[in-house]
Amino acid sequence: MTMRIAILGAGPSGLAQLRAFESARRAGAQVPEIVCYEKQSDLGGMWNYTWRTGLDAYGEPVHGSMYRYLWSNGPKEALEFADYSFEEHFGRPIASYPPRAVLRDYIMGRIEKSGVRDQIRFNMAVQWVDYSEETGRFSVTVRDLKKDELVTEEFDRVIVATGHFSTPNAPFFEGLERFPGRVLHAHDFRDACEFTDKDLLLVGSSYSAEDIGTQCHKYGAKSVTFSYRSAPMGYDWPQAFDEKPLLLRVEGNTAHFADGSRKDVDAIILCTGYQHHFPFLPDALTLRTRNRLYPGDLYKGVFWIDNPKLIYLGMQDQYYTFNMFDAQAWYARDVILGTRALPDADAMRADSQAWLAREEACAGAEDDIDFQTAYVRDLLDATDYPDFNVEAVATLFKRWKHDKKQDILGYRNCSYRSVLTGTLAPPHHTPWMEAMDDSLEAFLADSTLEEEPQRRIA
Ligand SMILES: Cc1cc2nc3c(=O)[nH]c(=O)nc-3n(C[C@H](O)[C@H](O)[C@H](O)COP(=O)(O)OP(=O)(O)OC[C@H]3O[C@@H](n4cnc5c(N)ncnc54)[C@H](O)[C@@H]3O)c2cc1C
Ligand SMILES: NC(=O)c1ccc[n+]([C@@H]2O[C@H](COP(=O)([O-])OP(=O)(O)OC[C@H]3O[C@@H](n4cnc5c(N)ncnc54)[C@H](OP(=O)(O)O)[C@@H]3O)[C@@H](O)[C@H]2O)c1
Repeated sequence: MTMRIAILGAGPSGLAQLRAFESARRAGAQVPEIVCYEKQSDLGGMWNYTWRTGLDAYGEPVHGSMYRYLWSNGPKEALEFADYSFEEHFGRPIASYPPRAVLRDYIMGRIEKSGVRDQIRFNMAVQWVDYSEETGRFSVTVRDLKKDELVTEEFDRVIVATGHFSTPNAPFFEGLERFPGRVLHAHDFRDACEFTDKDLLLVGSSYSAEDIGTQCHKYGAKSVTFSYRSAPMGYDWPQAFDEKPLLLRVEGNTAHFADGSRKDVDAIILCTGYQHHFPFLPDALTLRTRNRLYPGDLYKGVFWIDNPKLIYLGMQDQYYTFNMFDAQAWYARDVILGTRALPDADAMRADSQAWLAREEACAGAEDDIDFQTAYVRDLLDATDYPDFNVEAVATLFKRWKHDKKQDILGYRNCSYRSVLTGTLAPPHHTPWMEAMDDSLEAFLADSTLEEEPQRRIA
């Protein structure tokens, strides 16, 4: 009987898995039958923009957390697929911080080239996964959203690639229920223009707070106040911004903070992160973790140690994204194809514990970057995924951190060198603060190498 594999989700992680098998097939390997279930009507995962919030047209939770005017918050040179450069896709060098539509186009380009779209069943929402000790197989129950029918099929391996930035972590603060303005989680934020001329409070001090706050400022918010739980972001903020300690309560439209200060605000956005959420998995197979660089219970960050026929992709907090998902998928593929063996459960647990301890010893962003670099390197060394200079990417990430520190509203004007092609990105034709149109057409309109980069980074 041919081995059957279910991939749950066709975002960058699920697509990496499809691509990994396709590359083995092209190299002459016998590849199992693969079915990828995707609840959206297209591939691309988080990179598909939707205006919807709450439930989708079929009553399923909306997956998308991306918003209009979202630009990459890291340099594209740090996430480039090792087997498909930006230059190959666009036919010329482009600037380092593309908007969402440009990155989506790049993701799509590699997939269309590899011809794996046929293996994806769209509008299929996974409802339940069961494992039978008796047969050693999984049954996967999926709702065909268009037909409104449940379908169950059997598989030998299940790969969970459903992402972990969709289910809000939304804490309660006293008085929110009587607040007269809008209260929303970052997951439901779509259009910054809604907040033009408003005084905003953003709870949280990580990427969503920083990016939604700066974006609302760009589109005309009157003021942006951040409230942090652990530590302020500490950027040299322009006057319209303020950082306060934790929100204690809201009275009317007045927010009260832990240092006794207060601020009248028009809207509150909870940028308080996301939950790893797998409502389709039984307890014994469910990964439970906060957003961290090395979730426990996974060997090599991917194999569910108690039953390594179950594989999770992309569950880490992410400096690395697309290229890390690729490295994970290539490793998982080799184990599934039998060209690499897994050690016994005790050895897997010990290995995972050692990575966890190493993560816990990290003392800041640079350590975190080095940690995830070492993790990606470990996977790369074990597979035939095209080797790329991951240590040079780590240097890019550190440079990026530095550039943000220097100028939180201007770092996206910087240029970085591709570790694949060696090309230094040209500057974007318009400084980020003035680039109001985030369409692919506007971004690609005038991005030529002849221009002198505003800042060069070797
Ligand atoms: C606001 C925001 C901005 C980001 N910006 C960047 C950035 O600039 N650069 C960067 O590299 N990364 C960024 N990321 C990280 C982003 O999550 C990753 O780039 C990438 O999308 C993760 O890929 P994934 O495939 O693991 O998950 P996702 O992209 O989330 O894809 C998961 C897929 O699984 C599907 N799915 C979920 N549940 C089911 C189900 N029950 N049945 C069937 N299908 C299901 C979803 O529909 C989706 O297609 C951002 C994330 C967020 C939230
Ligand atoms: N333009 C872009 O590319 C872009 C934009 C937005 C997001 N993203 C991506 O989206 C992902 C998620 O980022 P995120 O910022 O949403 O999540 P996150 O990085 O997990 O951060 C969650 C934040 O919420 C805070 N928090 C959690 N619970 C809280 C509580 N009860 N009270 C107060 N604060 C609380 C945390 O504070 P502590 O520090 O105290 O834990 C932390 O600051 C990242 O991968 C990021 O790169 C990208």
